[in-house]
Amino acid sequence: MIKGKFAILAIESSCDETAAAVVLEGREVLSNVISSQIEIHKAYGGVVPEIASRHHLNNVNWVCQQALDQASETLAAMDAGETSVISDAALKEGGSGGGLSMDDIDAIAVTYGPGLVGALLIGLATAKAYALAMGKPLIGVHHIHGHICANFIEHKDLKPPFMALVISGGHTNIVEVSDYNEYQVLGGTRDDAAGEAYDKVARVLGLGYPGGPLIDKIAKSGNPEAVEFKRVFLEKDSFDFSFSGIKTGVLNYVNSEKQAGREINVPDVAAGFQQAVLDVIVTKTVTAAIQMNKDKIVMAGGVAANSRLREMLQAECDKHGISLYHPSPILCTDNAAMIGCAAYYNYKAGKISDLTLDAIPNLPL
Ligand code: KG4
Ligand code: ZN
Repeated sequence: MIKGKFAILAIESSCDETAAAVVLEGREVLSNVISSQIEIHKAYGGVVPEIASRHHLNNVNWVCQQALDQASETLAAMDAGETSVISDAALKEGGSGGGLSMDDIDAIAVTYGPGLVGALLIGLATAKAYALAMGKPLIGVHHIHGHICANFIEHKDLKPPFMALVISGGHTNIVEVSDYNEYQVLGGTRDDAAGEAYDKVARVLGLGYPGGPLIDKIAKSGNPEAVEFKRVFLEKDSFDFSFSGIKTGVLNYVNSEKQAGREINVPDVAAGFQQAVLDVIVTKTVTAAIQMNKDKIVMAGGVAANSRLREMLQAECDKHGISLYHPSPILCTDNAAMIGCAAYYNYKAGKISDLTLDAIPNLPL
């Protein structure tokens, strides 16, 4: 216990971020350390699983130690008079010094799926080793459950029920959240995830990796109506998505313009692509909330950081009297604070794992 509160050391390694955090009672973040491999994978235009695993292996122990050290610093700052447990420092990368002991930690949490199997296994092996050596309970967390829970950290008054839009490089789901541990997936992508579509289109446009933030930025100076791409709504009443067609649509457009000797207006194409994708996402999410009588929509995952998506969803929510919640960018992309939060609610529901916990790359929600 730390200051009489249940303390979790959480580890996340499902993709290309090695992350560890110390979280009190689910919502109070003492530290949130993220070692990103983005620069390494940039050279390949995407995450290379084997390289990701090797970097997780090199980094994971250091990242866990940093999480403990940074938590000590946050505690020292609190003792020195800071009122908020979540200091700005705790939500940023880095941290040094201090020396909180593992004895202060009550449980070890870890993402066990979905994700890259080799990457997940590094976090899992580390968490199991800490749990076994220190005699602490082990709590397995679903990565998407973690993304949704990032909102509980940011918004202290937020409580289920609500509708969640989980939108990242690996997932695009509309999830009905009835309680802290009760989820029903209403729809998901049938092919590419939204973030994957952003990344692939950015590559076609020669923008670099990861594509989401780059398209977000460049689309601001483009006209979303200059180039129109097809909106794919699928069957009436379906909350599923399909984004592979639009990626091909952009590719075909770029190739035909090049063949005709015309210059591509990259901001216009980026804005047109983004508008087509977001029109569908916003319409389906708000329709789901209205149909299921939810007056709150919660955004989660890397693409939830997208400024146009936030703008469009906010405007649509305002029309229907729905409150919109999203985490700050550092809690949108992969991090361990969100895993610590989800783990706390698992723990309270008696969902504790044992040392047989295995990595499940396609773990369903
Ligand atoms: O949640 P996340 O960090 O990792 C996964 O679990 O997938 O999400 C990463 C994805 C990438 O595809 C990235 O391009 C996208 O989120 N992303 C964005 C933005 N920031 C990150 N997509 C659109 N706009 C953004 N601002
Ligand atoms: Zn994620």
